[in-house]
Amino acid sequence: MNRDFWKSRWDEGRIGFHQDEVNPHLQRCWPDLGIPSGGTVFVPLCGKSRDMLWLRDQGYTVIGVEVVPRAVEAFFAENGLTATHGPHGAFSLWRSEGIDIFQGDFFDLTPDEMVGITAVYDRASLIALPPAMRQRYAAHLRAILPGGMNVLLVTMDYPQDQMEGPPFAVTEQEVATLYQDYFKIEQAGAEDILAANPRFQEQGLSQLLEKVYVLRAR
Ligand SMILES: C[S@@+](CC[C@H](N)C(=O)[O-])C[C@H]1O[C@@H](n2cnc3c(N)ncnc32)[C@H](O)[C@@H]1O
Repeated sequence: MNRDFWKSRWDEGRIGFHQDEVNPHLQRCWPDLGIPSGGTVFVPLCGKSRDMLWLRDQGYTVIGVEVVPRAVEAFFAENGLTATHGPHGAFSLWRSEGIDIFQGDFFDLTPDEMVGITAVYDRASLIALPPAMRQRYAAHLRAILPGGMNVLLVTMDYPQDQMEGPPFAVTEQEVATLYQDYFKIEQAGAEDILAANPRFQEQGLSQLLEKVYVLRAR
């Protein structure tokens, strides 16, 4: 799951994870996080998610990170946004009204890029990574973010022996192992989305649960 893997996925248009509509769990659960409008939301492994537009339209500044340049370019172009871009440390920083995207590797982010973040929205980011990288991901998030952060986390769970990831199955137990020392974990919904995702049915999955968690800083 390195940069070349994801670059190939984007080059070949194998981006079934991308949603044309804003994620319904985001719209339903975000208010419950209690993040005042005017805050700054970090969207790790953001792809070209339209959820960033929704967050911006709620009055937040959005900061994303995405390793594949094509994805970042597509986000701004497809949404008719004018963006500037230039070097910023290990990144190319793309800036437009209310939305900045660090084009580069999440694992190169430092606390300097995270100044002012007040919440995190993770949809299909943790589940994009294989198990060992998920531990690194959670540890790096904790290392770079300011304290006192709430997180909306949208994952998937399915019998991992029925399909190779990504997306990888992430169990409730794993969410607890990764985050419970730092967050109070609340389940905010689980929905079987297999019928709406024939590509996963074709791969032999018997169940595909989309699971939503609100992580409140301890
Ligand atoms: C499964 S997609 C999810 C994208 C987005 N969160 C969404 O909901 O559409 C994962 C994205 O993470 C990007 N990615 C993977 N590893 C990354 C890394 N180490 N740093 C930054 N982006 C990464 C991939 O290029 C891909 O666009």
